[in-house]
Amino acid sequence: MKRQAEPELMEDSAQVYAYAQADFSAPHTEFINRLQAFINNPSFNGLVLDLGCGPGDISLKFALAFPNSTVHAIDGSKAMIDYAQTLLINNNVQLEFIHGKLPEATLPCLAYDLIFSNSLLHHLAEPMTLWHTIKHYAKPGAPIMVMDLLRPNSPTAAQTLVDTYAALEPELLKHDFYHSLLAAYTQTEVEQQLVSAQLNFNVEQISDRHLLITGMMPC
Ligand SMILES: C[S@@+](CC[C@H](N)C(=O)[O-])C[C@H]1O[C@@H](n2cnc3c(N)ncnc32)[C@H](O)[C@@H]1O
Repeated sequence: MKRQAEPELMEDSAQVYAYAQADFSAPHTEFINRLQAFINNPSFNGLVLDLGCGPGDISLKFALAFPNSTVHAIDGSKAMIDYAQTLLINNNVQLEFIHGKLPEATLPCLAYDLIFSNSLLHHLAEPMTLWHTIKHYAKPGAPIMVMDLLRPNSPTAAQTLVDTYAALEPELLKHDFYHSLLAAYTQTEVEQQLVSAQLNFNVEQISDRHLLITGMMPC
């Protein structure tokens, strides 16, 4: 099935509210668990970048899990960042949310000790934006972890995934999930992107709808 792009930024207030209110606790906890296993250092205390942070749930979970780290989390949607900022009211963490669209945005630091991203890649019309940003901002040797959706073979297969995993969700969320699946990249496409970026990362299908990309920045 040919990729069908969706709008890059999630700016519509109803869409942001639906996404922010959805219960992603299981997949987001799973993301953090994988990240913890990948970093393999419970006392990690570096400078961290979360690309396409959305309403900030994963950024916050990371900052709470690694309280001695400093997290910068960026998103191009002002509505998402406004929502994310509210998380800081009741959480005393070293976490800064930044409004900025990649690749134009400038980040406060030039060399991050760890970069992660969940569900940004499929939004990008130019997927190399993600890999070039990582190359630009990661310290040599920094661990990188990216998780994203995997494009199914057909619209019918995409609908089956929506029916299986989002049957009880609001219509707006189901609509977004369906279109995100159609916009996702295949494993082969991601592998080709990494070859173009000269990044020797591992690409693994970890579920019927997810890819996990991990690796260390070349030194
Ligand atoms: C599906 S959400 C994922 C949010 C979060 N990472 C999570 O897992 O809950 C994708 C986010 O990427 C943001 N985004 C898309 N294109 C972007 C770009 N070019 N620069 C910055 N953010 C972008 C969208 O605004 C949206 O908030």
